[in-house]
Amino acid sequence: MIRLLLIFASLLRLLPPGSAADPLPCSPRTCGNLSIAYPFWLEEDGQPPCGAPSFQLNCNASQALLSRSMFGSYQVVQVFAENSSFVAVDNNLPLDDGCPKFWFNISLGLGLSPFVVSNKNRELLVLHNCSKQVMPPGFNRTRCANESFYRLGGVYGSHRELAGLPPACSLSVVPVLGFPDGNSYVSSMRQGFLLEWTLSDECPKCEASGGQCRYANAGTGFSCNCSDGVRPDKCGESRK
Ligand SMILES: *[C@@H]1O[C@H](CO)[C@@H](O)[C@H](O)[C@H]1NC(C)=O
Ligand SMILES: *[C@@H]1O[C@H](CO)[C@@H](O)[C@H](O)[C@H]1NC(C)=O
Ligand SMILES: *[C@@H]1O[C@H](CO)[C@@H](O)[C@H](O)[C@H]1NC(C)=O
Ligand SMILES: *[C@@H]1O[C@H](CO)[C@@H](O)[C@H](O)[C@H]1NC(C)=O
Ligand SMILES: *[C@@H]1O[C@H](CO)[C@@H](O)[C@H](O)[C@H]1NC(C)=O
Ligand SMILES: *[C@@H]1O[C@H](CO)[C@@H](O)[C@H](O)[C@H]1NC(C)=O
Ligand SMILES: *[C@@H]1O[C@H](CO)[C@@H](O)[C@H](O)[C@H]1NC(C)=O
Ligand SMILES: *[C@@H]1O[C@H](CO)[C@@H](O)[C@H](O)[C@H]1NC(C)=O
Repeated sequence: MIRLLLIFASLLRLLPPGSAADPLPCSPRTCGNLSIAYPFWLEEDGQPPCGAPSFQLNCNASQALLSRSMFGSYQVVQVFAENSSFVAVDNNLPLDDGCPKFWFNISLGLGLSPFVVSNKNRELLVLHNCSKQVMPPGFNRTRCANESFYRLGGVYGSHRELAGLPPACSLSVVPVLGFPDGNSYVSSMRQGFLLEWTLSDECPKCEASGGQCRYANAGTGFSCNCSDGVRPDKCGESRK
């Protein structure tokens, strides 16, 4: 039985690979400067999904955008597969002038997903809509028409222990990797922030058993396509 499987597997490998102009479905792709590989995947018209929905990307004007993110506007700029993290830029933020119609918390935009904001980030604190005339200590004034104040805080999440934030203002928290040029909070938002993902190891297990990962139902129904049929997890399991 095992030998048969091996012969089958080697036969499959003899099938002609797709030509360079027409890469195999689900093989790595590029978008702008980004190489897209598992667990990320690029959506393509008429092609079945190649991965989980959270990792679905579309390529728009050389930007790789997470299709299922808030308004589809999270751009993936760098992926570190070796430690399951990536740098994302939230295009919902006011990346041109730093003055949004209203401020919001980044964590609200992520919703249900396998992504968490890494504690490798620091936090950009913005105080806005203050009901009293205040210049909170340690903060700088933005140049926005709606008066607001910003400063670079500590490790992402640490504002929860901060005392003395003026209660007369609303607080918004944006993860940033730091302030790259002095104190420009706008360029820090443009630079993006680090997200980490957790992933079930279903696809690596399936591939290790000689199968191909399949994601039916818009990417939610995982199955393993083996030489002798489709299995729920991996190849070589005896059928009941
Ligand atoms: C690609 O990388 C180059 C050099 O690092 C950079 O100047 C350019 O803006 C990048 N393009 C995109 C679309 O990210
Ligand atoms: C692509 O980006 C442009 C502007 O950058 C935007 O107007 C357009 O709606 C985007 N298209 C898709 C399919 O996201
Ligand atoms: C993963 O590695 C990259 C490159 O070394 C690093 O910049 C990033 O902070 C790491 N991510 C985590 C979550 O440690
Ligand atoms: C100021 O904030 C209000 C809502 O609080 C908003 O409608 C208005 O557009 C903002 N003005 C500017 C210049 O961003
Ligand atoms: C952002 O989160 C902080 C706590 O982490 C909360 O105090 C604040 O009200 C939130 N701001 C908005 C605009 O939701
Ligand atoms: C600003 O504060 C007022 C009252 O303090 C509140 O009614 C309003 O919703 C706030 N606006 C924003 C954009 O947070
Ligand atoms: C505020 O601005 C001043 C002058 O530009 C700068 O020296 C200082 O570092 C800034 N403070 C913060 C918290 O960004
Ligand atoms: C399983 O893989 C074979 C060979 O690549 C392919 O012909 C078949 O359509 C696949 N089945 C499913 C359900 O994806």
